[in-house]
Amino acid sequence: MATIIKNIGLLATPTGTVAQKGESQGQIQFIADTYIMMKDGLIEEIGKAGTGKGWTGGAGDTVIDAQGLLATPGLVDAHTHLLFAGWRQRELAFKLKGLSYLDILAKGGGILHTVEQTRKASVDELILQGIKSLDIMLAHGTTTCEVKSGYGLTTEAELKSLRAIRQLGDMHAVDVVSTFMGAHAVPVEYKGRSAEYVRLLCEEMIPHVAQERLAEFCDVFCETGVFTVAESEQILECGKRCGLMPKIHAEEITTLGGAELAGKVKAISAEHLIHADDKGLAAMAAADVIAVLLPGTSFYLGEAFARAKEMIEQGIAVAVASDFNPGSCPNESLQIPMNIACLKYRLTPEQVLTAATLNGAAAIHRSALVGSIEPGKQGDIVIWNAPDLNFLFYHWGVNQVKTVVKRGQRVVG
Ligand code: NIG
Ligand code: FE
Repeated sequence: MATIIKNIGLLATPTGTVAQKGESQGQIQFIADTYIMMKDGLIEEIGKAGTGKGWTGGAGDTVIDAQGLLATPGLVDAHTHLLFAGWRQRELAFKLKGLSYLDILAKGGGILHTVEQTRKASVDELILQGIKSLDIMLAHGTTTCEVKSGYGLTTEAELKSLRAIRQLGDMHAVDVVSTFMGAHAVPVEYKGRSAEYVRLLCEEMIPHVAQERLAEFCDVFCETGVFTVAESEQILECGKRCGLMPKIHAEEITTLGGAELAGKVKAISAEHLIHADDKGLAAMAAADVIAVLLPGTSFYLGEAFARAKEMIEQGIAVAVASDFNPGSCPNESLQIPMNIACLKYRLTPEQVLTAATLNGAAAIHRSALVGSIEPGKQGDIVIWNAPDLNFLFYHWGVNQVKTVVKRGQRVVG
């Protein structure tokens, strides 16, 4: 039995199974007055309204009326920290007094506060919180997301978090891709002994994670006062030897050399890059590292905005993600970062659409499966309360989703 979305006023999608860079990042396929037919969760046919076998449908088929509106691929959020206990609303007052993100972390707050709460939480509590966030994401058009561990920071608590992430993926309509980020902070019990914590990561945590196949990627917070470039390299190389693809939080708050390291270790992606320098960008371009940019975090931390336009000009594929987490970006929706990417990075709606779909999918190794509306890809589609792509980027701050279809099934609206 098929699912048919009919009366699509405008279909907008990037095309292909790899990240689009340079000029191609802004090349979107637009098809007016169309329908999409899906079978067994996959897109089978895209055709002109009023023609083709999919248009009429058969007995038992599900027909969704898009009412002449815009359809795009489901959004792919390539960077989240959604599994945690311990929201941090109390830090708002510290921020308003002028304390920076790193000041709060150095005082044992920030990530470390969430770590304390996450360690105490049961798997069920973590899953319950995770489901709430995934529900919000799905309602806002995200159909695939990456989730990082990193609020456990002991072998036991990291494994607990990763197992919870796996269960979330099994339970929820949103596809979940998991990243090990035991190198998210140096835990309090290792304060001043980061080399020993790095040893624990490399000798115990990473091998365990790999053995249980709990993650596909290994990520590091390479930042002043957190992990140095040398430590980050050690951790990412160890992850590689165990089969985990490297990712890196680079140049979020200071310029340290993480972008260059991303090139050196051939990371699949480098994330944040607010303060990336020319050398870092050149290294990324040479090694085909995807830039996962997080404009919601720039806004929320009051930081500068990454040089997204220059990155595209230099041939770096740019993805835009939410960075949803309880500290630097407590917001599950990818729509707001998309608006900010357009208005502050000055990317075109077309470039941002690619960034939040196909390029996001490529940054989590899923671009053969999702990220565009093409026959053979998964039937993950959003119908928007918008007549065209520009409207989606012009109207902002409210949820513009009308309907979400996941693997060919209507799951929202
Ligand atoms: O991407 N920078 C490190 N990790 C997150 C923040 C996590 C937190 O504050 O809880 C980020 O900004
Ligand atoms: Fe992050």
